[in-house]
Amino acid sequence: MTSKILVLGATGTVGGEVASLLARKGFAVRGATRDPVAAAARSAGAAEYVEFDLERPATFGAALAGVDRAFLIALPGDEHSDRVALPLIDAMKASGVRHVVNLTAMGTEMREDFALRKIELHLEASGLEFTHLRPNWFMQVIASGSVGTSIRATGTFMLPAAEARISYIDARDVSAVAAEALCGTGHAGRAYTLTGPTALDHHEVATVLSEVTGRPIRYVPLDEAQARTTLGQAGFPPEWVERLITFYRLIRAGLCAPVSPDVVAVLGRPPSGFRQFAVEHASAWA
Ligand SMILES: NC(=O)c1ccc[n+]([C@@H]2O[C@H](COP(=O)([O-])OP(=O)(O)OC[C@H]3O[C@@H](n4cnc5c(N)ncnc54)[C@H](OP(=O)(O)O)[C@@H]3O)[C@@H](O)[C@H]2O)c1
Repeated sequence: MTSKILVLGATGTVGGEVASLLARKGFAVRGATRDPVAAAARSAGAAEYVEFDLERPATFGAALAGVDRAFLIALPGDEHSDRVALPLIDAMKASGVRHVVNLTAMGTEMREDFALRKIELHLEASGLEFTHLRPNWFMQVIASGSVGTSIRATGTFMLPAAEARISYIDARDVSAVAAEALCGTGHAGRAYTLTGPTALDHHEVATVLSEVTGRPIRYVPLDEAQARTTLGQAGFPPEWVERLITFYRLIRAGLCAPVSPDVVAVLGRPPSGFRQFAVEHASAWA
């Protein structure tokens, strides 16, 4: 039987594109999702989908059968995602998986108390081959969710980012690196920090969006108290609000501004810039 590549988050932004890229290269891809029927009905990515829920270890066995490589993402939005990822890594080891490409986040290596760091360390200690991918914030954040909605409705977006810069990355570049790490050579035992080619502050982001859409778009910096109120009114639960506030403190401290050479090193081409992303997604802000 041909060995399969299991892709977690196969219905999501990063994992969906990872599945498509690998399938186009001819690899046997199994997409993991809580709803395989819906995924199969709407996706051209993976050849097959399996029911998989990080919260239900009983679903791990069937998902891992015959798998030699896996793309791992953490349970979205869970501050304690190590709780479910560590047993999954153990199950991967027991079932004969050889290499795990593990999506965490930029700066994870600096936070020993962070769930994503605990996942990295457990994977490193497991004896499995591993590649950590540590991306910066995705450009897609500006086109979707509450930021995209706010721009469409009011021509403004509000964040507690002050004048800090972020080297946003196009999530499609994260997927391209993940696909290469899964099927290329020389990536075992490596950790890649993934960023876009430049760091922009949000006034510069607004300028690019204004130029590309032809309508004035403005960034309004918030202080933490204002951000708490705005996020609460947008329906975020209190623990999510505090988590986001913490992330924006790191952004304001400049930790998301560095530009990494790792996308070029892995893909042999530069990552996409924000202007190109904006041109391709202009309808998101119309
Ligand atoms: N957004 C950013 O700027 C950013 C930056 C750095 C790192 N990241 C990381 O990137 C990861 C992927 O982001 P994304 O934008 O691709 O996510 P996404 O589009 O929101 O997709 C989330 C995926 O998680 C799956 N999922 C949700 N609950 C699950 C569960 N209980 N068990 C198994 N799978 C579950 C969903 O699958 P089903 O619903 O089909 O089950 C879906 O495919 C995130 O975990 C995040 O930590 C994001």
